[in-house]
Amino acid sequence: MHKQALIDALKQLLGENLVACDSDALNHYGCDRTTHYTPKPLAIVFPSCIEHVQALVVWANKHRCPLVPSGGRTGLSGAAVAANSEVVVSFQKMQRILSLNTIDRTVTCEPGVITAQLQAFADDNDLYYPVDFASAGSSHIAGNISTNAGGIKVIRYGMTRDWVAGLKVVTGKGELLTLNNDLIKNATGYDLRHLFIGAEGTLGFIVEATMRLTKKPYQLTAMVLALHSITDIMSVLQHFQATLPLTAFEFFSDKAMSAVLQRADIPAPFTVNHPFYVLLEFEALQQDSIDQALSCFEHCTNQGWVEDAVISQSQRQYADLWKLREFISETLAPRKPYKNDISVKISDIPDFLAAVNTLVEKNYPGFEVVWYGHIGDGNLHLNILKPEAMDQTEFLQHCERVNPQLFAIVQHYQGSISAEHGVGLLKRNYLHYSRSAEEIALMQAIKSLFDPNNIINPGKLI
Ligand code: MLT
Ligand code: ZN
Repeated sequence: MHKQALIDALKQLLGENLVACDSDALNHYGCDRTTHYTPKPLAIVFPSCIEHVQALVVWANKHRCPLVPSGGRTGLSGAAVAANSEVVVSFQKMQRILSLNTIDRTVTCEPGVITAQLQAFADDNDLYYPVDFASAGSSHIAGNISTNAGGIKVIRYGMTRDWVAGLKVVTGKGELLTLNNDLIKNATGYDLRHLFIGAEGTLGFIVEATMRLTKKPYQLTAMVLALHSITDIMSVLQHFQATLPLTAFEFFSDKAMSAVLQRADIPAPFTVNHPFYVLLEFEALQQDSIDQALSCFEHCTNQGWVEDAVISQSQRQYADLWKLREFISETLAPRKPYKNDISVKISDIPDFLAAVNTLVEKNYPGFEVVWYGHIGDGNLHLNILKPEAMDQTEFLQHCERVNPQLFAIVQHYQGSISAEHGVGLLKRNYLHYSRSAEEIALMQAIKSLFDPNNIINPGKLI
């Protein structure tokens, strides 16, 4: 079918006002936060109910027209990129919170509910949705589920997967499935809900999600520690973790913090620079929690692990300390860094870091390298910045030449080439460093079971 005829048919199916094909819309909805792809979708559609999504999938199968699910487009792996005349399915018109169950402590959402909207809703109801990250103000809940989003509180609250009570999905064949019925206990065979979590929209569309909530944390307190080296960082984690109920343990290099301090109106936490910093957060559950934190710090300085520290003494200071970490990604974004999002077991971090550091020093001479990440859960973000004199294509090619060596180290430690950003287009060719050939073959078989005509997000992940 000719392109214009397909667009006309879409307009007939959903109504003119739910289809866009002007160039602004195509460019806007055709990509995520990756900067390596040129968006080229056929059209953008905005279903407003589950029936619309089902009708779209049936239509797409009939015309063999690929569909790309699109949430807040905050992804960093190209999973929501439409560069091959696909129809982008945006969930911007399905953003309602449908119901709250205070006994089950669950909330049922349309797929386009924004993470921060869910967090605020939970807060208004004296509850807490704990999955959090810098892009919470724009990312959609179905996008979070599709990438099994992690973020800054994983050390205490786990990944998005741990908060999904139930899902409604439309498969690539157009079937509507209700998965798990929000049960806590359900020993009735394969849990298909979990297949959709982290599937990057390759099996079908999440059209409704019921998320678990929990009780609000008590008096969150932030502390930033200054370190002269990263070698002893895990001893610091172990010591604090043995004493305090930690809710976060993040790290960043001085390069990362300096970049944030240069552009934002945030007070510098220390008067002199230190090579690395840890931002930890804990619930001040007891009256002497602050004293406990200070004596942990004292122990760490006596051991020579830590050089200095600041602790939040007001809400304002707490928020300012968090900005030092949360603003890193968007501060670096204009420089289009090459992002690596790698993880290993927490106990393997020191050896892994040393091996990666040696590789980076050898292969990225003259490049600015910015380290940060969720070191408390084993996840490191290694951002490589392009030298000014280097052209963008040459820069990408250089990073891609280093990738096999980097991922070989990841493989040696049985780690992940993508801890939380997903595989999408960007890491697809490297999947075999983290998943066996047998696993990939099974993943492909699962994909064709749910989506036999390869209609939903083709070419992503596998
Ligand atoms: C973060 O931890 O800030 C996010 O994963 C985004 C990023 O790595 O840039
Ligand atoms: Zn992250």
